[in-house]
Amino acid sequence: MTSIKELIDRLYKEGDLVDESLVHIIENISEEDRTHLYAKALDKKNQFYQDTVYMRGLIEFTNYCKQNCDYCGIRGKNDKVDRYRLSKEAILHCCEEGHALGYRTFVLQGGEDPFYTDEVLVDLIESIKKSYPDSAITLSIGERSYESYEKLKKAGVDRYLLRHETASKSLYESLHPNMSFENRRRCLSDLKKLGYQVGAGFMVGLPGQTSADLAEDLRFLKTLEPEMIGIGPYIPHEETPLKGSTGGTVEQTLVMVALTRLMLPKALLPSTTAMGTLDPKGREKALKAGANVVMPNLSPTDVREKYELYKDKICTGDEAAHCRQCIEGRIKNAGFRVDMGRGDHVSIWGPSKASSLQIDW
Ligand code: 5AD
Ligand code: FES
Repeated sequence: MTSIKELIDRLYKEGDLVDESLVHIIENISEEDRTHLYAKALDKKNQFYQDTVYMRGLIEFTNYCKQNCDYCGIRGKNDKVDRYRLSKEAILHCCEEGHALGYRTFVLQGGEDPFYTDEVLVDLIESIKKSYPDSAITLSIGERSYESYEKLKKAGVDRYLLRHETASKSLYESLHPNMSFENRRRCLSDLKKLGYQVGAGFMVGLPGQTSADLAEDLRFLKTLEPEMIGIGPYIPHEETPLKGSTGGTVEQTLVMVALTRLMLPKALLPSTTAMGTLDPKGREKALKAGANVVMPNLSPTDVREKYELYKDKICTGDEAAHCRQCIEGRIKNAGFRVDMGRGDHVSIWGPSKASSLQIDW
């Protein structure tokens, strides 16, 4: 029988394993094998991105949401949420502050808020692009039509984050009332077709999630080949139907981050806030297991607490400048280098950037 260490080494070399082997690793990995897995994942990341970690400025601009995902604290039916929307001026002000702090990617994230019609968004995006033509815009506002994604792309959006949440159809349907598994996949495929850099991703430790489901997540990602992949532990929130459930762990999530790095070596993988929430060193641990992006918060402090997707989310009291410093210190202490550039996926770099980093182009 092949050992787990041998399976990891094969995955490192070949970039894939059969699903049974992935399940076997997920279920049986020992502490010693985990250390080996993380080292291999870090090595793979270094081949494409060296010791750099990209920074993105996150602006959580609306917590209104028409959806009702069973795990999410800002689900529409949670009437304890103090709802807010940032005005165009407030969002531009966040960008101004972020740009002065050195950020060259702005991630605009929100619930599925019908207030933001294509018209409102196009005007907002054009204004941001006009003021900061050197910066990338990433949107993360859920499911929309092909036509809407097309208009937003034309207005200047570079990237779009839409986690697939789980690749298991039955689990997806059980967690997302009135949403469809097929429509989510349609959205991801439309975004790809339209030329966005696309971010998918999933939660680890969802109630009812099996190791086979997690292997299915890896399989789905390997087929979709998104440029960005957000992976975080599920963390229960009291005001949701899943209150009282057990969440995912840092260890399980690190294993999934590292396996993802070995299967999609060039992906941009954020070290997520949810990891930092479960463990004060969680984000550093993810960087050491192959993640290469962090997304410090740029939202105004008076709305931060209101964007509570899960319990005890970190950084809710901290100014943008504080998070910027904090994260930089953490990245450096963990042995990495901060890159404040746009941080595009390696596949769209020009040869000059690639050669300056001595990449075999
Ligand atoms: N725990 C962890 N992650 C969550 N998300 C939403 N709710 C939770 C939770 N309770 C994640 C989802 C979503 C992203 C913005 O946050 O994966 O896509
Ligand atoms: Fe926000 Fe550390 S990143 S306080």
